Order: sequence, then structure tokens, then C-alpha cells
Amino acid sequence: MKSLVLEDKDRELVLLDRPDPVATGRQAVVRILAAALNHRDAWIRQGRYAGLKFPVIPGSDGSGVVLSVGDDDDAHWVGQEVIINPSMGWGDSQTHQDQQHYRILGLPDDGTLSEQVMVPVNSLVPKPPSLSFEEAAALPLAGLTAFRALFKRGSCLPGERVLITGVGGGVASFALQFALAAGAIVYISSGSPEKIEKALALGATAGVDYKDPGWVQSLQRQAGDFDLVIDGAAGEGVAALLQLTRPGGRLVFYGATRGNPTGIDMRRIFWKQLNILGSTMGSPEDFSEMIAFVDRHGIHPVIDTVFSMEEGETALRRMDDGRQFGKIIIKIP
Ligand SMILES: NC(=O)c1ccc[n+]([C@@H]2O[C@H](COP(=O)([O-])OP(=O)(O)OC[C@H]3O[C@@H](n4cnc5c(N)ncnc54)[C@H](OP(=O)(O)O)[C@@H]3O)[C@@H](O)[C@H]2O)c1
Repeated sequence: MKSLVLEDKDRELVLLDRPDPVATGRQAVVRILAAALNHRDAWIRQGRYAGLKFPVIPGSDGSGVVLSVGDDDDAHWVGQEVIINPSMGWGDSQTHQDQQHYRILGLPDDGTLSEQVMVPVNSLVPKPPSLSFEEAAALPLAGLTAFRALFKRGSCLPGERVLITGVGGGVASFALQFALAAGAIVYISSGSPEKIEKALALGATAGVDYKDPGWVQSLQRQAGDFDLVIDGAAGEGVAALLQLTRPGGRLVFYGATRGNPTGIDMRRIFWKQLNILGSTMGSPEDFSEMIAFVDRHGIHPVIDTVFSMEEGETALRRMDDGRQFGKIIIKIP
């Protein structure tokens, strides 16, 4: 099979021939037809991710057709069009993942930037016919993260004022679509005027450029304060987010692209009775609910660019440069 491989950290993503996987036990081999990138793949290449292992075929997101299974009990899956849930070994709790056994497809196990991938059968979910293979591949990691952050952790309700930061990101663009579908009033931030325009076209009420020194005051003037803030950037922006959240409001953090914050005003947190919530990926139940939500609301993921396998390195650089709005897809013919 042809696979995109990271041979070591800081190396280019190269297209190589690798042996086809052979399904054993409760595993399935999926012929991948489309895969998608996440910021995780860029962190792995930069050597900035826990549990690094090289060489590795990265990629957490994929859709395709089941080629073979390792156990006759799973034979009904063969030939089915599927989406792969990359959130593996979550465990039985709905409040958090199993801290020992939890892992994400695409490191340490080889991922979806490949003609074939081997995954546990229990990570397969039928692809809704309303989605193309590219749209289905866009969904898993970012859609699951956005869904849990927004609804399971953030308890987003219709009519609430929600702020989603860095809307160009994969998770953030899903959070925007999901919050709008749920009837929330959504404000966004971005470092790019073009991305703000695109978010407004999708239904955001207003947006600000976080590079503009007056962005906090501008948001306060336009929106007042927020019931719910969804953020994956963290860093020095957190202080402003605490300011922008209403007393008793919720802030959900799913990432720290800008690193850890310094100088957090603890008095603001306790005096305003703020609820600060962390969120990571989601349970198998969250994944199934997310797919059903997307299907029910007729949501089509925002796709930035579709690249070929030969353009894998160009695709990853686009992610590195942060130029995307929505998901970067690799089509695998
Ligand atoms: N916990 C989890 O399960 C989980 C899951 C997925 C991702 N993550 C983490 O969440 C982060 C985003 O992931 P992703 O895959 O969505 O990445 P992505 O598609 O590369 O998006 C990153 C986004 O961060 C935004 N950003 C950069 N600087 C910012 C700032 N100062 N203020 C606000 N936003 C800023 C940018 O938004 P603009 O382009 O609009 O400026 C950029 O698009 C990463 O750190 C990732 O590791 C965590």
C-alpha cells in the first residue's frame, strides 16, 4: 500500500510503499478513500507531542470501505462505507477517558494517511449517505472535540451567547456550525479578516480580529458578555476570555495552541463564579451522537482544500502555516 510517512521529527511527509496490514481478532482493515489533517499531525512532526514514535503513518481522520475483518463475527462490516472513530480505549466513564489505555489513531498506531489502515472493529461507524467521503473524513477528531466541548462540557443551550475563538481552526469551525445548528448566537474571533468574513457567511453574528489591540472592548460593545466561551488557543488570551464571560458563565478549553497563560486573575474566577472546564476528544457515545447530530441537521463540514497523496507535504505545511479555514483533506484514490 502507499502511505504518507514521517520518518523522524522535523522531516518531510514522504510517500512510501508499506506492507498491507492483515486484520486479526476484532480488527478491521479499511480501504481509506479520504483522510484529514489535524493540528496534532503538525505537533507530531515538530516533535511536540507525548509518546512520539518514528517512523509513523500519521492521520487520525479517515473514511472509506471495510476491506477485511479478523473475526467471522464481524463479517457483516466487509464492504460497508464507514467513518473511523479515532478516540480509542476511552473506557466506561462518560466523564473522562481511561488515563492509561486511551490513545488516538495516528500515533502510536499507524494512521489514516494511507491506502489502508487497521483499526478495532468497535471504532467503525457507518458513513451517513448525506456526506461525501471527503466530508466524512473531515469530521472525526475535530467534530468529536467540538461536540463534546460545546454540548457535553459546555452545556450549550438555544439562545445563549457563545464565543468561539480562532474560528479558522478545524475544531473551531465545527464548533461554529454545531452551535448555530443548536440555536445559539455565535460570535467568533480570528487572526484573519477573510476568515471572519467566511464565518459571518456561515451564520456568525459578528467577529473580531484577535490581533487588533481593541478586540476585547470591541466584542464587549457588540455582544455584552458571553454565557459560554469555547477556546483552543489559551496563552495570554485567557485573561481576556475570563473578562468576557458573564458571572456564572462557562469556559471550555480543548487546546493550548498559544501555550500556557501567565498572570491569571484568580479573583475574577471566584468572584464571577466562573466554571472552567477542560475537554478532550469524546467517548464512543459522544462520537455516535455527533454523527447523528450532523446527519439530523444536514451539516456539511467546512473543507478548506483537498490535496492528493503526492501533495501530502504541501498539505501539512498549510496546517503549519495556519492558513486554512476548516479542514484540510487528502483524497486517496
Ligand atoms: N483536546 C483535544 O481533544 C483536542 C482535539 C483537537 C485539537 N486540540 C488542540 O486544539 C488546538 C486547535 O486544533 P485544530 O486541529 O483545530 O487546529 P488548527 O486547525 O490548526 O487551528 C488552530 C487555530 O488556532 C487559532 N489561533 C491561533 N492563535 C490564536 C489566538 N491568539 N487566539 C485565538 N485563536 C488562535 C487559529 O485561528 P485563526 O486561523 O482563525 O486565526 C488557528 O486556525 C490545537 O492546539 C490542538 O492540539 C485538542
